[in-house]
Amino acid sequence: MGNGEWGVGNGKWGIYNYQLPITNYQFTHYQLPINNYQMKKIVLITGASSGIGEACAKVFADSGARLILAARRLERLQKLASQLVQEFAVDTHLVQLDVSNRSAVETAISSLPTEWSDIDILINNAGLSRGLDKLHEGDFQDWEEMIDINIKGLLYVTRYVLPGMVSRGRGHIINIGSIAGHQAYPGGNVYCGTKAAVKSISEGLKLDLLGTPVRVTSVDPGMVETEFSEVRFHGDEGRASKVYQGLTPLTPEDVADVIFFCATRKPHVNINEVILMPVDQASATMVNRRS
Ligand SMILES: NC(=O)c1ccc[n+]([C@@H]2O[C@H](COP(=O)([O-])OP(=O)(O)OC[C@H]3O[C@@H](n4cnc5c(N)ncnc54)[C@H](OP(=O)(O)O)[C@@H]3O)[C@@H](O)[C@H]2O)c1
Repeated sequence: MGNGEWGVGNGKWGIYNYQLPITNYQFTHYQLPINNYQMKKIVLITGASSGIGEACAKVFADSGARLILAARRLERLQKLASQLVQEFAVDTHLVQLDVSNRSAVETAISSLPTEWSDIDILINNAGLSRGLDKLHEGDFQDWEEMIDINIKGLLYVTRYVLPGMVSRGRGHIINIGSIAGHQAYPGGNVYCGTKAAVKSISEGLKLDLLGTPVRVTSVDPGMVETEFSEVRFHGDEGRASKVYQGLTPLTPEDVADVIFFCATRKPHVNINEVILMPVDQASATMVNRRS
């Protein structure tokens, strides 16, 4: 931990304010002048330590948003926050959090300092795939992890953040689904099931929020080159790199760009669902490899 940081918790989770070095210590948070500060939206990004979440942090930082960055790997978040402060003079609040731990999510959201509690945009991005086994040969631990993080984690964070949005009369939930939620692929069974659940949850949420100004969007990408495949294959980098071999996948920045577009429409416009894939991909199972 650096100067001026503070933490709370039982070792499973913690909340940290990233701050500038000691010379600026008199500020609780680094912030722009008050006029700009009052205009800023508070954006909570789960899974901000890598890939699409990290790219979202950069694009929203560039727009002057205030960022709550959540993930399990705190050191990654600290490195990112330090970079964002230098590049964009952004105001960040770091939360070390496992979204699949319901009580940790509840505590993390309910313990946000007042100046961070009025979340305007929640990007439910934390998620993973594990394994590519046929279902009858599948690993139970892999299944539990995907279901706990991709479905239950998304639900927990939404359940604790959304009431504030409804009572304040403003907010936007952006769920990161996948084309895997639209089409299954061999060995994708449980991962595809979790993303199909995200699709249904987003649709249900839109219905439940009718009559409120809170918006709901599902952004559903095809192949994006991130640490996703490395995580899927439990750290096997060789196998992971083959996924993207001979084709041009989406970058995390491509996806963040679409998410930012959805978040910056006029308040009466709701983009319900966006499916995006590389030109080199036509479906969950069809890709164009040049080599
Ligand atoms: N890459 C693709 O081709 C692709 C395509 C469609 C959809 N997606 C979806 O996009 C989202 C982001 O994935 P990515 O491609 O950017 O992969 P990534 O680079 O592996 O990033 C995944 C992020 O999720 C976080 N995360 C995982 N489990 C978590 C947990 N229990 N609690 C909190 N954070 C957790 C990770 O942080 P920590 O490990 O530090 O916790 C990491 O920041 C996922 O929902 C994924 O399903 C990806």
